[in-house]
Amino acid sequence: MLSNIFKIEQIKYDDNSANEYGRDWTYKGSVNPKAIVFPSSKEQIKELISFANKDNEKIVPSGGRTGLSWGAVATQNEIVVSMEKLNSITNVDNEEKSLSCQAGAITQNIQNAAQQQNLLYPVNFASSGSSHIGGNVATNAGGVKVIKYGSTRNWVSSLSVITGNGTELHLNKGLKKNNSAYDLRNLFIGSEGTLGLITDVELHLCKNPPKLKVLLVSFNEFESLQKFFNKIFNQIELYAFEFFCKNSLCAVLEKFKIKPPLSPEMNFYVIVEFEAVESEKLLEIVEKMYGEKLIRDAVIASSEKQNLELWGLRENISESIAIFNPVKYDLSIKRQHLNSFIKEIKHIFKNEDSSKPSYFLFGHLGDNNIHLNLIPEPNKDIGSQKEKRLFDFLKRHNGSISAEHGIGLLKKQSFKFMNNKNEIDLMMMIKKDFDPNNIMNPGKIFDLKE
Ligand code: MLT
Ligand code: ZN
Repeated sequence: MLSNIFKIEQIKYDDNSANEYGRDWTYKGSVNPKAIVFPSSKEQIKELISFANKDNEKIVPSGGRTGLSWGAVATQNEIVVSMEKLNSITNVDNEEKSLSCQAGAITQNIQNAAQQQNLLYPVNFASSGSSHIGGNVATNAGGVKVIKYGSTRNWVSSLSVITGNGTELHLNKGLKKNNSAYDLRNLFIGSEGTLGLITDVELHLCKNPPKLKVLLVSFNEFESLQKFFNKIFNQIELYAFEFFCKNSLCAVLEKFKIKPPLSPEMNFYVIVEFEAVESEKLLEIVEKMYGEKLIRDAVIASSEKQNLELWGLRENISESIAIFNPVKYDLSIKRQHLNSFIKEIKHIFKNEDSSKPSYFLFGHLGDNNIHLNLIPEPNKDIGSQKEKRLFDFLKRHNGSISAEHGIGLLKKQSFKFMNNKNEIDLMMMIKKDFDPNNIMNPGKIFDLKE
């Protein structure tokens, strides 16, 4: 019984808690967790896993619930394990440039603790104020600085986990170099809670960058935007290269009642973050391309406040378009196919009524990662035919349907369609080794053949 493991105040059964802890940001369906538990020690987690194995209970790990693929959704009478009480930052080591914390530590608190030692934890996204590091690791979260710093995977130097069969593992132990056969730490990164529960994390930190600046540029043609990227990529140290379409910009301007810093009539916009000392070099390129009518307009921030204002145009897109209840795609394809991919999206999803948007495009273009957010079609059959055309294109060009959001429940079908069967079979075998009774987040990523 749960009450043999947890104090009464560590267990919740009520509907409000179920609705709060049993879903992620995007899941609108009904949830049905058996209970939500709030462990305050590793011992309680171990006992819970042992209880679940004995009594055939299922567990859904739950962090800040900022995911977008229904990875933390509990619809099948599972026990939701909220890690929010295990949130301590236990050490920041200035010499080693590392930070140790429990899995429930909030990303922004980690960033702040690093800053107090004049160090940087550079993985950043709009949800940093509520996402947990355990969830970031479990989904290998990316964000807006991947072009410079990589995704969460690059920063994890050690993981403590309790696997689905109750084994406690301490993986990599904070080392910078460690070639000791299979790197099990990397198996847990991106495993979406299906192999075990992450309890503690150690992260590499780095030095703060020099002074950075933000530039906003507009284009009418996607090809011109690509030319701009190719020109600056080898010459300028890029900290971010983020793009969005006119519809996305207009949604943010509308939601936050902002005056646009440049004309909102162009088709595409790019936010570039770069080192202030490189301003002159970058502006020379911008001016030349402006002269060639490839760049239509540009604004460079002249203060930290303006940096943040320009960033807001990108970071607030997701929130601003939420009213459309969009179908969210998180696509990735090699740079050489990007132009034709954007054309294909336009072709597949063009709206008969051109006065209304049918989709929003934005994302991490510097990493070839495009977020296509579709306004749902009233006719579901037509919607799914269009989706099939999109995935066929991606498959033909060796793309991915999940660049950074993960698979969860939402993308199980497309994951199966896009990925090689032998690869998926191997993943299932790994899952069975770590979690023989399939107690950990069952039904996420794939359905095991029991
Ligand atoms: C983003 O890049 O803004 C996030 O991945 C969120 C989203 O795709 O909606
Ligand atoms: Zn993103």
